[in-house]
Amino acid sequence: MKKLNLVVLASGGGTNLQAIIDSIEAGKLDAKIKAVISNNSKSGALERARSHNITDIHLSHKQFATPEEFNQKLISVLKENETDLVVLAGYMKMISPTVIREYKNRMINIHPALLPSFGGKGMYGIHVHEAVIESGVKVTGVTVHVVDEVYDHGPILFQKCVPVSSSDTPESLQQKVLPHEHEAYFRVIQLFAEGKIEIKDNRAFIRE
Ligand code: GAR
Repeated sequence: MKKLNLVVLASGGGTNLQAIIDSIEAGKLDAKIKAVISNNSKSGALERARSHNITDIHLSHKQFATPEEFNQKLISVLKENETDLVVLAGYMKMISPTVIREYKNRMINIHPALLPSFGGKGMYGIHVHEAVIESGVKVTGVTVHVVDEVYDHGPILFQKCVPVSSSDTPESLQQKVLPHEHEAYFRVIQLFAEGKIEIKDNRAFIRE
């Protein structure tokens, strides 16, 4: 079976990237990470890529005169790498509709809450968990979804609930949710590798 070519975009520590690398190395995921792209040259994600001999690319809007030049560069890197699936793993920058349209139904994101709650502008990383605690909800979780042109929106591929206890802090909640992210993301990617995902009328269907 042909391996699914992945390009992972990540801004931070890269624990989700690491979980994907580990699943590939353990033979649990039929994919190859062709490159890791980060807007942050000092990100743990780029460091993790380098230590596993994966091409690491620092690509930031700041390197380009216009957003369109950045978008064209990103698209050309994705094409050069014959990308089958673009994987956002803690990528904290908006992806432009130009890029999203080019990779329609072939770009996925992981979010540390149950969308459509606690998504949208400013809802990334620890801020999501802060908002969850402040709201008083008793369950949070993980969502993996296909990226469409609306931020934190698009056909939902997977969700898992995680209980919120009264003693939780944003930090403790983050630590509770992260292992579920790590467990979920590679499984969803494997479903793409097996050709089991079908997107119809803005809903994702998983073939048994
Ligand atoms: C993860 O919790 C991921 O779900 C979140 O950022 C963290 C990155 O951690 N993404 C978002 O909030 C996107 N809106 P990592 O760098 O250790 O994988």
